[in-house]
Amino acid sequence: MIKKTYIIGNWKMNLSYQETIRLAQNLTANYQQKQNQELVIAPQFPMLQSIASLLQNSPIKISAQNCASQNSGAYTGEVSVSLLQEFCNYCIIGHSERRNIFKESVSEVAEKFFLLQKTGIVPIFCVGETLEQRKAGKLEELLKEQLQPILKTTNENFLVAYEPVWAIGTGEIASVKQISQVHNFLWDLLTKEKKKVPILYGGSVNSQNSAELLGIDKLHGLLVGGASLRAQDFLAITK
Ligand code: PGA
Repeated sequence: MIKKTYIIGNWKMNLSYQETIRLAQNLTANYQQKQNQELVIAPQFPMLQSIASLLQNSPIKISAQNCASQNSGAYTGEVSVSLLQEFCNYCIIGHSERRNIFKESVSEVAEKFFLLQKTGIVPIFCVGETLEQRKAGKLEELLKEQLQPILKTTNENFLVAYEPVWAIGTGEIASVKQISQVHNFLWDLLTKEKKKVPILYGGSVNSQNSAELLGIDKLHGLLVGGASLRAQDFLAITK
């Protein structure tokens, strides 16, 4: 049994310095912690230190949006897991924007996963299909391929987030039936390998559809993009 519900706000490449601080302050002031709920925010890299100290006396946790697949060294522009561990509880990896825009491969995402697991930062491992892949009947094959490299890990301290690419930032949410089918499939795939880990859904989640989504069996939380940029909407989701 997964006891916690995760609500994770992925702020992506949005908000100025001041706006990021204001949003985090608004959340810390107004978030009413619920039992067995984990609220997490993922601001841009340069904000992690300020936001981590702002959250010091708050139940809200902090996540990075990405990390390097190498430990350290001559990798200009990358951010190491060992530095992130100073500030972060979680790290999103394999987001479809990383896989599709920045051409991150399945094995690169897996390398990030294993580096994170060595530090104690909890990886939020994203998987999901494009509309073309779904229409071509490749959904399950693709999800299997994305998850395969990490299925044999002996460390169960990670989350999986199912995010259909066609539902991200489009306002076109997957149906309850579609989400439920995928969550059951992922749950079976993971539990066959003795991994009882939380499986989140992401893609056009907002305060209107979140309650229905959270009612889906084998769905243990939400990864929220656009709606997490507005304190009122994001807090409404936590309720
Ligand atoms: P969205 O983004 O909620 O804006 O669709 C979700 C995500 O990319 O994690």
